[in-house]
Parts: sequence; structure tokens; C-alpha cells
Amino acid sequence: GASAVVIYNKPGEKGPINGTVTKPSTLPVVGPTHELGAGLVKIAKRRGGLRLRVKTDTVHGRTSSANVLADTGRGDPGNVVLAGAHLDSVPKGPGINDNGTGAAALLAIAAKIKDLGKDGLRNRVRFAWWGAEEEGLRGSAHYVGSLPAAEREKIALNVNLDMLGSPNGTRGVYDGDNSTGGTRAPAGSGAIEKMFRDYFKSRRLPTSESEFDGRSDYGPFIEKGIPSGGIATGAEGVKTAAEAKLFGGRPGKAYDPCYHAACDRMKNVNLKLLDTTTDGVAHVLQHLARTTVAVNG
Ligand code: PHE
Ligand code: ZN
Ligand code: ZN
Ligand code: ZN
Repeated sequence: GASAVVIYNKPGEKGPINGTVTKPSTLPVVGPTHELGAGLVKIAKRRGGLRLRVKTDTVHGRTSSANVLADTGRGDPGNVVLAGAHLDSVPKGPGINDNGTGAAALLAIAAKIKDLGKDGLRNRVRFAWWGAEEEGLRGSAHYVGSLPAAEREKIALNVNLDMLGSPNGTRGVYDGDNSTGGTRAPAGSGAIEKMFRDYFKSRRLPTSESEFDGRSDYGPFIEKGIPSGGIATGAEGVKTAAEAKLFGGRPGKAYDPCYHAACDRMKNVNLKLLDTTTDGVAHVLQHLARTTVAVNG
């Protein structure tokens, strides 16, 4: 197409609002979502080959919220690898570990996606920053629920980034071959779990399992049978003695003592852990951008 980035204001709306990337301020949202949209536009402009398509998807409710979605211009649009992170926090706290870590990691990966080149980017990669996760997965549920079935079927899988640097955390790979939340784990979720495990094993970094119970934005995807995966470093749960042996840190204390609290600030992030969990997500996404055969069966 002629312009590098097209901005829409409603799902399914035809045509760009203003036709160019030069006026991101016309986005009908304010706050972090707007900042993020403008940031993505900058990334796309700076790196001509990126060709992101940014789309905001407004979620109406008591307070209004928005999802921001950005697609690579390259890759098979019939085979979409969707990576998502929630952008909102609870009103009580600034939400730096939950979920500034996931949102920032995803932005860093989006900024580098063109480095995969033509052969590395066989599938379309879609980046999603969800709104209103803390109010009951509302942004992601709105997105999944409002997609026409034909569009939904093009989504090969979802990789979720939520809480990647808990101060007393673990590398908890979503237990995709063993669901606990009522919804059966879609086939393929176990293959994503294995990709994370194999990567960390190759770096001799320990992993544990986190419950595949749908307690974050991958929930609406697995409800529709879309394979999902990810890593969580832990919320209000308490670190066991065995985990402290594996990962260090303090047994008997919460993985994140500032979970949903005012103290979830910059100091609340284990940057070393965030570094390796982000590497893991980047590696798995790189693999999935090239091939989704293992996941699709
Ligand atoms: N989704 C939860 C929240 O944002 C925390 C969580 C993250 C739980 C990942 C499980 C796995 O508060
Ligand atoms: Zn939260
Ligand atoms: Zn969260
Ligand atoms: Zn497992």
C-alpha cells in the first residue's frame, strides 16, 4: 500500500481515519494507549521496512478502554501468530511488574521484528496491547468475541506476556499440556510450552510450571480453542522451598509482594529475570514466525 501505517478507530471500520501516519493524535483515545500508538507509529516510520498496521479497538464500559493492535506487513495473513500483553494496571498501583514488564517486552520485540527478514517472517505476527485486563480480561475478550469466525480461524496461536519480572519470581512456563481452569487446553498449547522449556534448557536456566487456568488474556483464546502459551514469574502466590533452591529468592514469601499494590514501582522488578523471560518470548516468537507446523499439528 501507499502509506506505511493505517490507523482505524473501530473494529471493522473501512479506511483510515486520516490516511497517513503523521497525525497519530487523531486517535480517539488518550493516555498510555495513545502514547503506545504514537510510539508504534514512530517505530514504523524510523524503520521503513516494518510496515506495521496499527488499529485501536475501543472497549466500552463504565470507563472506556482500548486495545492497540499492530500487524507486520509481511507474512502469511492466513496464519497469524498473536502476541499480547495487557497495558492497564489496577487503580491502586502503577502496575510496573503487572504489567509494564510484559507491555515493554512486547514493544521491544515489535521494534526488532523486521530483523527476521523475509525467510524468518513467513507467518504474520500481530502485536496486541490489551486494555481492561484487570476488570476481567475485558479487552482481550472483546477482541476475540468481536472477530468474525473467518478472522478468528486465521489466528494460529496466542503468546501472552503478563508479569515477567516478579521480584521473588520463577520462570513459570504456562502448563499448556495440563489445564486446570475448566477449559481444556487446546492441542498445540503443549508444543508452545515445550518451545519455552527447550529454550531455557539450552541456556541452562531453570523453569517451573504455572497453572494454565486462563487467569490472563490468553483465557478468551483458549476458550475458543486457540493454542496458547507464555511465561509468568508469579503474583500473590508463595514461593516454595523447592523453588527457592532452583531460582534463589525467599521461600515462604510472595513471588510479588507488591502485586496489585501501590509499591509495584520500578524497584519492584527483577531486571535479570525480566531479561531472560523476554529472551524466551523473543525466541519462541521468532521460531513461531518462521513455522507454526508443530503447533497446528
Ligand atoms: N493476570 C493476573 C493479573 O494481571 C496475574 C497473572 C498473570 C496470573 C499471569 C496468572 C498468570 O493480575
Ligand atoms: Zn494484575
Ligand atoms: Zn497482569
Ligand atoms: Zn506441562
